Order: sequence, then structure tokens, then C-alpha cells
Amino acid sequence: MSTPEQVKQAVRDHYARAALGSACGCETSPREDLSGALGPALGCGSPLSYADLRPGEVVVDLGSGAGLDALRAARRVGPHGQVLGVDMTPEMVALARSNAATVGVPNVHFSVGELESLPLADGSADVVVSNCVINLVPDKRRAFQEAYRVLRPGGRLVVSDVVAAGPLPPEVRGDLAAWSACVAGALPLQDYLEALRAAGFEALEVLASEDSCCGSASPVRSVTVRARRPA
Ligand SMILES: C[S@@+](CC[C@H](N)C(=O)[O-])C[C@H]1O[C@@H](n2cnc3c(N)ncnc32)[C@H](O)[C@@H]1O
Repeated sequence: MSTPEQVKQAVRDHYARAALGSACGCETSPREDLSGALGPALGCGSPLSYADLRPGEVVVDLGSGAGLDALRAARRVGPHGQVLGVDMTPEMVALARSNAATVGVPNVHFSVGELESLPLADGSADVVVSNCVINLVPDKRRAFQEAYRVLRPGGRLVVSDVVAAGPLPPEVRGDLAAWSACVAGALPLQDYLEALRAAGFEALEVLASEDSCCGSASPVRSVTVRARRPA
């Protein structure tokens, strides 16, 4: 069985290659691109469609990758709002910064950091979004605790992610390539929701649930979940 540190190193290496254009991400779903020149889009849903972002809000994007969701969010919150993207892969953060410079969006900042220890102050965000990332984190409860910590009371979390559609064989669970492909780390939906509740979130709603790329034979599904930190 792989250790959490081995999983994280394999995931980091994989997404460094993806940033440099020589690896795929998860099974991706087609998404409207901010510009054909930007990429890669490696998400598995559309958290921003459900985040109801308002001008002036502070948004954190967990595992911001090349920054496409963060850039869209920055446009929605406008010049008085701010978006902070956090990603543990330095190559992805460099690409996101370059994409932000290309489109000229000033109110977005990207930092290298881990979801398990976010480089952000308590209660500093109105909204936390994430697209196809938590499944890649070995300690999901810790990641949800950190998301809760950085949200202000009453703040909302909207995550699109991959969950297991059924039992995954132990050889898949232990396979580092399957971790990077967003399969091995997928929890069953009920366990995922329970981890959110254990971190303190309330008002959980499953807003979307779709077959993954390979239809009903796929071992995983994508879901979008919204939850709230109690006021
Ligand atoms: C499948 S990509 C999704 C990127 C982006 N959210 C999107 O929709 O295009 C997953 C991203 O999560 C980052 N990541 C994975 N585990 C992480 C962790 N523990 N802390 C911070 N970032 C992480 C990876 O570096 C990668 O950029």
C-alpha cells in the first residue's frame, strides 16, 4: 500500500507534467474555455455554476490548477472582490499566473500550498470552491477542516469532485497512477458527505451527479456538492 506522502508525490509529479503539457488530468469533462489559448482545464464539474458569486466577495479555489475557474470567478466578483487560488504543484501555479497575466485579470492571486494546511487566515473567505481535487488528497477530513477554517461563519463551499460509484478493488486503491487519474482516492458519496459533516459543514446539497467518461461501466462518478459553515 502506498503512503500518503508517496501518493502526494505521485500526484504532484503527474500535475507538473500536465502543466507542462505532457500528461492528462482526471477524466475531464468538456468545459467552456475562457480563451482557447488557456489551459489545461482538468475539472470534473462546474462549481461556479452553483456558487452564486457576488461582486466584492473573497473566493478561494482549492487546487486551482491552471487557474481557469479562478479567472472566471475573479471576473464575477469584480474589482472589489478577490480570488485566491492554492495548488501544491509549483508548475501549475506558474501556469495559472501566466494565464492571469495573459487575460489581464488583476484581482486573482495564486499561491503554492497544500489543502491540508492552507496558507490563509481563519475566516478570510466568503466562498470556497474546488474542482476535481479533494479526491486526490489522502487526508480528506483534514482538507475539509481547513476549508471550514478559512471560511467566514455563514460562508459557503461548492465542490465538484469524483466519488466512487461502487467498491474499488484494493489493487486500484493502491495504484499511484489510478490516484493521479482521480480514481483510487474517490470515496463513496455517503463517506464524502460524512467527512464534510465531521468538519462542521451543514445544509449539504448534492446539486449534480453525472456518469464519468465511460458511462455506467465507470468505477467513478462526478458530483457537485454545496455546503455551508454555520453562521
Ligand atoms: C485534476 S487537477 C484540477 C485543476 C483545476 N481545479 C481544474 O479544474 O482545472 C487537480 C489539481 O489539484 C492539485 N492538488 C492535488 N492535491 C493537492 C493538495 N493536497 N494540495 C493542493 N493542491 C493539490 C494538483 O496539483 C492539480 O493542479
